[in-house]
Amino acid sequence: MKTAAVKPAFNVDELRAQFPILKELVHGKPLVYFDNAATSQKPRRVIKAESAYYATINANVHRGVHTLSTKATEAQEAAREIVRKHINAKHAHEIIFTSGTTAGINLAAASLGQLLLKKGDEVVISGMEHHSNIVPWQLACERHGATLKVIPITDSGEWDLKQVPFSGKTRILAISHVSNTLGTINPVKKLIAQAKKQGIVTVVDGAQAIAHLNVNVQDLGCDLYAFSGHKAYGPTGIGVLYGRDELLERMPPWQGGGEMIDTVTLIQSTWAKLPFKFEAGTPNIAGIIGLGKAIRWMEDYDKAVMARHEHALLQHATKELLAIDGLRIIGTAKEKVGVISFVIDPSSASGSGVHHYDLGTLLDQQGIAVRTGHHCTQPLMDRFGVSGTTRVSFACFNSMEEVDTMVAALKKAIKMLR
Ligand code: ALA
Repeated sequence: MKTAAVKPAFNVDELRAQFPILKELVHGKPLVYFDNAATSQKPRRVIKAESAYYATINANVHRGVHTLSTKATEAQEAAREIVRKHINAKHAHEIIFTSGTTAGINLAAASLGQLLLKKGDEVVISGMEHHSNIVPWQLACERHGATLKVIPITDSGEWDLKQVPFSGKTRILAISHVSNTLGTINPVKKLIAQAKKQGIVTVVDGAQAIAHLNVNVQDLGCDLYAFSGHKAYGPTGIGVLYGRDELLERMPPWQGGGEMIDTVTLIQSTWAKLPFKFEAGTPNIAGIIGLGKAIRWMEDYDKAVMARHEHALLQHATKELLAIDGLRIIGTAKEKVGVISFVIDPSSASGSGVHHYDLGTLLDQQGIAVRTGHHCTQPLMDRFGVSGTTRVSFACFNSMEEVDTMVAALKKAIKMLR
């Protein structure tokens, strides 16, 4: 009988040693990297895989009969299978390689728009979406005469499920699995089930989920699911759009070019089979191989154990931050990944607040990387009546000591700025 491989025990020091960048100094201070929601850092194994591809295999895929081309094709298709297994898609041809979540959603919006939308139809998104899950739908609605409807957000930063604006005209639901700004883990499975009963096609932005949750597309029941490699310890410039094959078969291509065709004449063309119908042009082969390595790297550990570690960081940081006079956390949902967005309001002792940009700059002076601003979620900022926040976002390689360093640095910065 085959026994399941034993995962190594979670040891943050052992994990950190695999990330070369964590040894860097910033302004002479050890780097504390708390901007993982923007992009996570990469383990040595991923960096090496990309460089080994260029050093030993580099060739175009699915195009040549020569040895290198065959090797490159095999490596790319092996990575597709790794992705398929990781998200539990039924078929490898349901995995489309894109340049990232943004490209995946643009593909979905353009193609589904053409397939499904006509004048008077509606597309539903939520009020916490990243701009990349708003703007492509605005463009599609404009093109086809449809209207964008929005699920409102509660004071705690969750969907208001009592006000989901589904109607007989709703054709598409496009929602994020996890909010990049608030960290809220959304009840996507529940809403997808509701949408499916009404024949609504469902698209999930999984950019912030893939590194932190076990994503199972068949269990979620979604039609399309997009994510990026670079937020999950993989390279930039590579992403995935999963699609249920029956729907992908019906969807028209997004971009035209080499690789996505079956036949071309000067009058008309026919399309390649899945997934190639949606993969025009030479793909990011090194990125695909790097993504496969990153997923394999995550699978060496238990994602649930990684998530527990990140949750412990979240709880500790939340407690310490809330003890700071005037600090207000935006996004207090019960179910969160390790993301904390906050603003510094005027304190009881001093009449002035602190601007997130100033705070980010002073934290950087102390070696601490956080993101400041609207986080590509301007409508969400409007909902909470703020121009921006300071956001800390954790990955599995972050430590409790780093949280304490950040809190101490923050107190120092606030003192200087108030
Ligand atoms: N979407 C990325 C973020 O939230 C860039 O920072």
